[in-house]
Amino acid sequence: MEKISEGKTKEVFLLDNDHVLLRFKDYVTAGDGAKADIIDGKGVLNAQTSALLFRLLEREGIETHYVGMKDERTMIAKRLNMIPVEVVLRNYATGSIVKRLPIKEGEIFDPPIVEFFLKDDARHDPLLNYHHMRYLKLMNEEEARYIEGIVQRVNAVLTKVVERLNLVLYDFKLEFGRLGNKLLVGDEITLDAMRVREPQTQRILDKDLYRRGYPLEHVKSAYEEFLGRLRNV
Ligand code: C5P
Repeated sequence: MEKISEGKTKEVFLLDNDHVLLRFKDYVTAGDGAKADIIDGKGVLNAQTSALLFRLLEREGIETHYVGMKDERTMIAKRLNMIPVEVVLRNYATGSIVKRLPIKEGEIFDPPIVEFFLKDDARHDPLLNYHHMRYLKLMNEEEARYIEGIVQRVNAVLTKVVERLNLVLYDFKLEFGRLGNKLLVGDEITLDAMRVREPQTQRILDKDLYRRGYPLEHVKSAYEEFLGRLRNV
């Protein structure tokens, strides 16, 4: 099968004219690829987590690229024309926003803050506004506003699920692609692209563990625990 692209954590194969296979690798990376390691089985955990969350979104009427699973680490997805933009929604302040702006760790955003970043590791994924996105022919303002609406609906679904796991959803990142005249949620929804914490203890269960230098086994067991809880709700 023809490999049409490969990123830090996934390979993409052309299945047929309308479908791709996304194979989740065991790599974990941070700092735009500056730091990379292998966690055996992480690809399976992320593929399963993503599949479960995509199914949940579909059930709530949010269109995604998800079709089904080929094997435990390989997703069958609609072939989209991906927009190289990362759309981040933040419910609580942490991560890059507290470095960029005079905002303190843990501040609550009500309503949530949505941000767009260019997918460009060499430039460390710069922040984009509507003007940048129009000029770079990424999307027009109407599409950006439509995507903000979708991201808010995804937030409502994910916040509720994560709450049922006794966790709090701090933030998450989505990517979108075009299919005809539609914009669909693509890529993945995993702990690599989402921050969740235990409310009382502030215990972290996501990739921040890796970013902060916790042992790889610790990172893996957090991912396993999250998927385990998710399967039991
Ligand atoms: O680093 P930052 O605070 O901007 O990240 C916001 C959210 O987007 C986090 O959940 C993070 O895991 C995710 N993210 C991502 N891929 C990136 C940058 C951030 O999935 N390249």
